[in-house]
This record gives sequence, C-alpha cells and structure tokens, in this order.
Amino acid sequence: MRRERAAAERTRAPFGWSVAMAISSAASENANLNSAVDETRRDFIFVAAGAAATVGLSYAAWPFIDQMNPSADTRALATTDIDLTQIGEGQEITVRAAGKSAFVRHRTQREIEAAEHDDFAHLKDPASDASRLAQKNGAPGRTAYLIVWSACTHLGCIPLFAEGEFGGWRCPCHGSVYDTSGRIRSGPAPKNLFVAPYVYTGANAVRIG
Ligand code: FES
Repeated sequence: MRRERAAAERTRAPFGWSVAMAISSAASENANLNSAVDETRRDFIFVAAGAAATVGLSYAAWPFIDQMNPSADTRALATTDIDLTQIGEGQEITVRAAGKSAFVRHRTQREIEAAEHDDFAHLKDPASDASRLAQKNGAPGRTAYLIVWSACTHLGCIPLFAEGEFGGWRCPCHGSVYDTSGRIRSGPAPKNLFVAPYVYTGANAVRIG
C-alpha cells in the first residue's frame, strides 16, 4: 500500500510541473501577443501622428504656396494691348507681354516681298511667311505686322534690326542672322525667332500673350 502511494506521488509531481509549465508558456504567449498588439498600436499611433503632421503642415504651407500664385494684377499683365497706330511703317517697338519681350514690327512693302520670296529658299527651320503671321486663334495675320519674341534662339541675346545680309535682324552675340520674317538664315541659332501668340482685337489693335 505504501509502495502504491509513493508511486502515485511520483506520478503527481510531473503533472504539477507540467501545469506550471503550461501556465508559464501561456503567460509567455500572452506577453508576446500583448507585445505584438502594443507594437501594432504604437505603429498606428505613429502613422496617425505622421498623417496629422502632414495635414497640419499642408494647412500651414498653403498660405505660403498661395502667395506664390500670380496676383490678379500680374495675370492681367500676361497680355498686352498695343495700339498699332503708334508704329509707323518701317518701325518696330519692343513690348513686354507674358513676362517676355516681343518685337512688333510694321514691315515695309519691300520687307514683305523679301519675306514671301524667301518662302522657297533653303531654310534651316522651314516656315512660310504666312504661317508666321497667323494669329493664335488660327486666323490669318496681316502681312504688315510681324510679332515675334525678341530672344535669339541660340542663347537668348536680343538681335538688332537692319543688320545682316537678309534685311532682318542680326544677333550681336554670335552672329545669327534672321530675315524679315524672323527666320534663321545663318549663324548658330537653330530655330526661327518664335512667333508670339496674339490676336487682333480691332482695326488698329492687337493683344499679345
Ligand atoms: S545668342 Fe544670338 S547668336 Fe548667340
């Protein structure tokens, strides 16, 4: 009988131990789970805080970004209205429009004829004179007026009129020569003077930009 009880005691001891181990293991798993939940929650808090900071920054930055948009006055200056009666035949004026300067040239009959004649010349940047006079709405232009941005297409210097062998402009910087339609004829510039966008708004009025 005593021997049986001792055997029973021996069997009970490992069982208690295994219960303790099981409790310990469960506690450990629980701790791991809690740790995972904590990390997830912490990540969420970080993400939420980051998102809130981004939104906050966006709101804070908006007044500065908005300040950089052009004012109504500046937007109005994007176009420039010209009274063509102030430009006599054979004269040109330089005007500011859309933040750039443009030549408005009142061409003589001779300049017009030279430009049209050279539609068939060997051109580096082929374009007919008529195509260079077209208004920005696609309507034909007037042969008397050529309106081009004044920057040389080589490096942006300002060409001078009545210089160079084609009767138009010559750039003093590296010698690019443009004809009376503003087409590049010699020198390093790769393109014609760019035509400025414009429309005629009256018999003697043009809006550039
Ligand atoms: S900038 Fe006009 S030729 Fe160089």
